[in-house]
Amino acid sequence: MRLTRRKFVQSILGAGAASGLPAAFTACSGSSKATAATPASATAHQFDISSEATFPKGFFWGTATASYQIEGAWNEDGKGESIWDRFAHTPGKIKNGDTGDVACDSYHRWREDIALMRAMNLNSYRFSITWPRIQPSGSGAANSKGMDYYSSLVDALLEAHIRPLVTLYHWDLPQTLADAGGWTNRDTAARFADYVQLVANGLGDRVSDWILFNEPAGFVDLGYLEGTHAPGRKSLLDFLRATHVVNLAQGAGFCALKAVRPSARVGTAFSMSPCEPATNSEEDKLAAERAHAMTNLWFLEPALHGRYPEALTFLPESAMKIKSGDMEKTTAPLDFIGINLYYRIIASAAHAIERVTHAQEWLFPVKMDGGQQGPKTYFGSEVWPKALYDMVVRITRDYNRPAIEITESGCSYDDNPDASGAIHDSRRIAYHRDYLAALARSIAEGADVRGYHAWSLLDNFEWAAGFSQRFGLAYVDFKTQQRTIKDSGRWYAKVAAENRLSS
Ligand code: FCB
Repeated sequence: MRLTRRKFVQSILGAGAASGLPAAFTACSGSSKATAATPASATAHQFDISSEATFPKGFFWGTATASYQIEGAWNEDGKGESIWDRFAHTPGKIKNGDTGDVACDSYHRWREDIALMRAMNLNSYRFSITWPRIQPSGSGAANSKGMDYYSSLVDALLEAHIRPLVTLYHWDLPQTLADAGGWTNRDTAARFADYVQLVANGLGDRVSDWILFNEPAGFVDLGYLEGTHAPGRKSLLDFLRATHVVNLAQGAGFCALKAVRPSARVGTAFSMSPCEPATNSEEDKLAAERAHAMTNLWFLEPALHGRYPEALTFLPESAMKIKSGDMEKTTAPLDFIGINLYYRIIASAAHAIERVTHAQEWLFPVKMDGGQQGPKTYFGSEVWPKALYDMVVRITRDYNRPAIEITESGCSYDDNPDASGAIHDSRRIAYHRDYLAALARSIAEGADVRGYHAWSLLDNFEWAAGFSQRFGLAYVDFKTQQRTIKDSGRWYAKVAAENRLSS
């Protein structure tokens, strides 16, 4: 959920010669994507939010969380230090000096969390695994206590008839690997594949649905270019190198998982936003296509087509350290495309004066802004349900109707308990209702969407914003760790039970 990450990227992509990378390889044998006729594009008409919608039989109703944001127990049971431990312990990096040392204490309270999900009638839970709980220093044998924790969680979820949807990397890299260069070091791709194999061996007999990366575009940008997330690097070269190593790791991780469990369903959760041209001018339309390539395809095209996006007319191959044969290795025929979607992007061509004064916009003439027409969340992003419809329809059209999971969508608001302890978060209900209505429309028009995961089950540690942003369907009192289901959680429980939206 990031809008600001583009600035620097814009400086190096866009102008100049055509990217000359070869297309379409299959790096390891795997599953094939579900395919069927592509539905007619309906992007042209304005979406009308309906109040009645039924979802397909077997639809997954879920919530999503991430290890560092909820687990706490940062140094228990042999866990190694992660880059987020190091970053949050560094003064000045996180709002109010907050850390994830305790967070929602889910490492100890996961039974309570499962009880919340049961109360919400959910049948899917997207959570992530802390790599340094499994491999404290990023390589070698599995730490059995770390594996046991996730194994118990998986067993209890299955017992509660909740599908575990397991994210292998939601940003908490072992610090030891970061010390050796982190995602800028090609060896990290091989380390990732080893880790994936260990986890698949430990949990793969019970977990069938996996997510390799959470928002690769997010952590590579914020961690290596903007420096506002761990590991806090601010380097254009590091950003380019990390991009390519993560794409290699996506291919290697896919193969590693399939080698252990050929029948596993494997995807990535991509951060996506439809990119609308600010006007009908040809320049703005071109800008919007480039914005789309950067925002939505930077880690998807290397997996599905073995190439970097075509709409980028210049690719700094040597700076990215792309070697011959690499694009075969990035290829991973993902079984589903995970979409994390919060808002849309408005793209426009940079004006002459901006291009002269900002080197970035001279080199890559695209400006990206958030929309301004819809209401804003407490975090400042625009609420725009049509964004979900537009994105799902476009991915469905451009990728031959792949299986899609909505792996995240949600909103932060500063609603607190009233005198009776109830949390009346009507704006969150409106958000999920309207985004789900948009999603239902895309499904009615032919998209193959398997599930929706509200971000988040619980209020939690929101990265650099610390505990200042509450996204949960359940409220957490961070002093007592008491959880209380909000009105939105009750509303979501009804939707999940009925498998339909009603006004
Ligand atoms: C997404 C992240 C998730 C959470 C939400 C609000 O970008 O994947 O961890 O921070 O934003």
